[in-house]
Amino acid sequence: MDFIMALGRQKVALVGDGAVGSSFAFAMMQQGIAEEFVIIDVVKERTEGDALDLEDAQVFTSPKNIYSGDYDDCSDADVVVITAGAPQKPGETRLDLVNKNLKIMQSIIKPIVDSGFDGIIVVAANPVDILTYAAQKFSGFPKERVFGSGTSLDTSRLQVALGKKLGIDPRDINAYIMGEHGDSEFAALNAATVGSVPLISLAEKAGLSMDDLLKIEDDTRNKAYEIINRKGATFYGIGTCLMRITKAILNDENAVLPVGAPLNGEYGLDDIYIGTPAVINASGVAQVLEVPLSADEAKKMQASAETLKKTTADGLA
Ligand code: 2OP
Repeated sequence: MDFIMALGRQKVALVGDGAVGSSFAFAMMQQGIAEEFVIIDVVKERTEGDALDLEDAQVFTSPKNIYSGDYDDCSDADVVVITAGAPQKPGETRLDLVNKNLKIMQSIIKPIVDSGFDGIIVVAANPVDILTYAAQKFSGFPKERVFGSGTSLDTSRLQVALGKKLGIDPRDINAYIMGEHGDSEFAALNAATVGSVPLISLAEKAGLSMDDLLKIEDDTRNKAYEIINRKGATFYGIGTCLMRITKAILNDENAVLPVGAPLNGEYGLDDIYIGTPAVINASGVAQVLEVPLSADEAKKMQASAETLKKTTADGLA
């Protein structure tokens, strides 16, 4: 059996065809990932239109069976990516969306599970850490088979900002945003490196003080607001993150990615989904990597977890 035969046809289902969902679909098409891609949304005209539009791209990338479908089409999917939910309006925080989007999540998970779906669920709708926690509870799936986009986008924002300041390829900057994907997130600078050199000392050499680094952390935390204030929503960044995560699952990569992972004692926390680097493969979250945090960063992780636990309890009560 050759390699492709052994892998079989790869199928992805997208639930939620708003700006984030269709950007994810476009990224998947551009990268030629998965042979089959089904788009599900309550607004049928949108999914039909997107499928027709996206199939026109295959001649320039790679053939794909892309179509508008229903929850039953999740039955033989390898991955379901959920982006459905109300997006933030200018002035709203991600946590403000919790009640609205928990209801939507509940209505989505049941038909996905009823379809017989037996793969990996990736959640991107906000507040993502809480909705991921809810998706796992509603589905009854093992925790490692449900995870969130977490701080993947925030981490890429941090790496891009540091890359610009240091004149280094952002892909080579080993620095993570951790905690809530939201206002209590923080940069794990203590353990951050570039080519094995501690980031803090490299930054110092480049003339950046700790205050400068904390300003970069703050700008990263606020970048979504900056984008939403200008164009009403963010979608290309997160759409591309979701493509990267899905690719790691489908190709069984054991890739180290910052995601919203289920903790089981790491950082002294459990019964929570929160942003941390983790090993991602075909079984979902194969391993959570526990970053050595400074005492101050460890406090920020605890505070971020508190924020999430409190909002989760209020939202799911
Ligand atoms: C973002 O960070 C709004 O969560 C979305 O771009």
